[in-house]
Amino acid sequence: MTLEEAKSRIEELRRLIEYHNYLYYVLDNPEITDEEYDKLFRELVELEKAFPELITPDSPTQRVGAPPATQFAQVRHEVPMLSLDNAFTHEDLIAFDQRIKRALSTDKVNYYCEHKLDGLAVSLIYRDGLLVQGSTRGDGYYGEDVTNNLRTIKTIPLRLKGTHVPPLIEIRGECFMMLKDFEALNEERMQKGEPLFANPRNAAAGSIRQLDPSVTAQRKLYFMPYGFGAVEGITFETQEQFLEHCKEWGFRVNEHNTKAKGIHEAIAFADYWTSHRYELPFPADGVVIKVNDLALWPVLGTTARAPRYAIAYKFPAEEKETRVEDIIFQVGRTGSITPVALLTPVVLDGATVSRATLHNFDYLRAMDVRKGDYVKVRRAGMVIPEVLGVLTEKRSGNEVIVEPPSQCPVCGGPVMWEGAYLKCMNIACPAQLKGHLLHWASRDAMDIDGLGESLVEYLVDSGLVKDVAGLYTLSIADLLTVPRLAERSATKIYQNIQASKERPFFKVLYGLGIPRVGLKTAQVLAEQFRNMDNILNATVDDLIGVEGIGRDTAEVIVKALQSYKVRELINKLRALGLKMEQERIEGPLSGLTFVFTGSLASMSRSDAGKLVQSLGGKVAGSVSKRVDFVVVGSDPGSKLERARELGLKIIDEEEFLKMVGRR
Ligand code: IVH
Repeated sequence: MTLEEAKSRIEELRRLIEYHNYLYYVLDNPEITDEEYDKLFRELVELEKAFPELITPDSPTQRVGAPPATQFAQVRHEVPMLSLDNAFTHEDLIAFDQRIKRALSTDKVNYYCEHKLDGLAVSLIYRDGLLVQGSTRGDGYYGEDVTNNLRTIKTIPLRLKGTHVPPLIEIRGECFMMLKDFEALNEERMQKGEPLFANPRNAAAGSIRQLDPSVTAQRKLYFMPYGFGAVEGITFETQEQFLEHCKEWGFRVNEHNTKAKGIHEAIAFADYWTSHRYELPFPADGVVIKVNDLALWPVLGTTARAPRYAIAYKFPAEEKETRVEDIIFQVGRTGSITPVALLTPVVLDGATVSRATLHNFDYLRAMDVRKGDYVKVRRAGMVIPEVLGVLTEKRSGNEVIVEPPSQCPVCGGPVMWEGAYLKCMNIACPAQLKGHLLHWASRDAMDIDGLGESLVEYLVDSGLVKDVAGLYTLSIADLLTVPRLAERSATKIYQNIQASKERPFFKVLYGLGIPRVGLKTAQVLAEQFRNMDNILNATVDDLIGVEGIGRDTAEVIVKALQSYKVRELINKLRALGLKMEQERIEGPLSGLTFVFTGSLASMSRSDAGKLVQSLGGKVAGSVSKRVDFVVVGSDPGSKLERARELGLKIIDEEEFLKMVGRR
């Protein structure tokens, strides 16, 4: 095939593929089968491989071509991406209408009504019709450059279609996941033992803020436009007309958007969707009502936070009545025992709910929820439903008051009160052990990929693992007894477990799950005490000297470290070869301690801290005589004054960058 022939076939294939993408994703009306589509796509991939000089940024193959990034670049929004004011009642909407009428000295305003899509706001910049940049909203002024991730979304045109393509237009809209795709994704994650997304918004945001675009490409994301930012060479009269253009350019526009003559029609739209919201295939948490005539927008203006020409009416969280069939006790990973109401299932905000948290025993007592009671429930923040109150008028007298258990409901071990929380004291409790294993495997601790919830469940229930140390004596053969775990995955998990032996000491310390020892405290302890024996021998007073540790915390830590079980576990881990000592990094900053105050222009304070540590230096959180350098950024805090009092060496960012070899 000649270059000319390849070029013309490539162009034809691109046209065909984008056309079928459009039919499938935007119009929901495909003409060809998936196999036929794949065939076209593969042909294009092959041709581009043979003629790489013909690859263009708007080729459909480029939707997934980008390599993983190490971080996102910052993007400044020329026109800030504002937020919306909220309305919760009809009165709020009427007040909004009155404010507008007063400001415009008119008694008639037409509105445009849209759903408030619940995903992630993004901005797409098109120059001469070509998608050149996509970014997140961020704080409204600065966002993250996620162009390569957004390219993977089929409802985002890589090149605008139609006859009215302006030289510049910034399209703003929402990226989201369809509800059924969200549920399927969570189902899949549950199977794999991966953490679930709390709601479709988190799933969309998590998928877009992925460093590896190929991960984003696997998530089923959609985009729908609702506004514009920077624009040159075209004007729109109304919001409706702007969205008509979007349709022509190839976007999928929400088909339910409606014009309203006056606020009462807009209120009718809001009411209609309040009761019909569960019929929508996408996540919406309200409706947005906008003045339709764009010429009025600059007259109305914006506040620092939100425009005055639009308002978001939030759907009320659905509350329903149901019956408490039982009250059970759940044991969490730290041993806390939580009362949970088992409910006669009800559908709430589109999901079936059959249990609700009662938080703790103080709450249970204050609410006086009894077994057999009728209660009002609501889904809090889309996930954990909660009991709002008891319908005492419905009591028959046969309801049963449930007392806190006198022993752990999972292991039968002893329990003790810690404030409102009852805790299981047996650290070998299977419920706690499962929690501990998940904590041990978590990213901040030993970071063992593949050791998720369902695997942990099996390992504990089958008796294969009796404590954290037991992970390291698991063989591949042991792992192969796990139902549905393929040999490749078993081998990979085995390797990941073994590789975790190399994690630094502070991670081991954090992984032990000692109460009050979070990641930061583990780091500081490792840094100051250098090894496990010093920490085990430390007294309350020794610990109080450590940054961020008060008497109360010091006492809790020392007590936990006295526990025979903890000491036994540490000994086993030591024998297995895990790191029990802080490694000294020898580097240009060895022996030097830094303190940062104010914000740095070139990096975050935490990145600066990591940089210092990677070069052998130490970072302190507060100023003392032991500090060698105080690095001062803009808007420094009181640390600067204190440093001056102590006569410490104070340097600016520029000098710091020179010291670390970045200048
Ligand atoms: S208009 C100037 N329309 O809501 C503000 N926003 O609270 C322009 N959102 O960050 C926003 N659906 O992510 C607008 N139909 C819609 C929307 C919508 C969802 C989100 C958007 C924005 C947030 C504002």
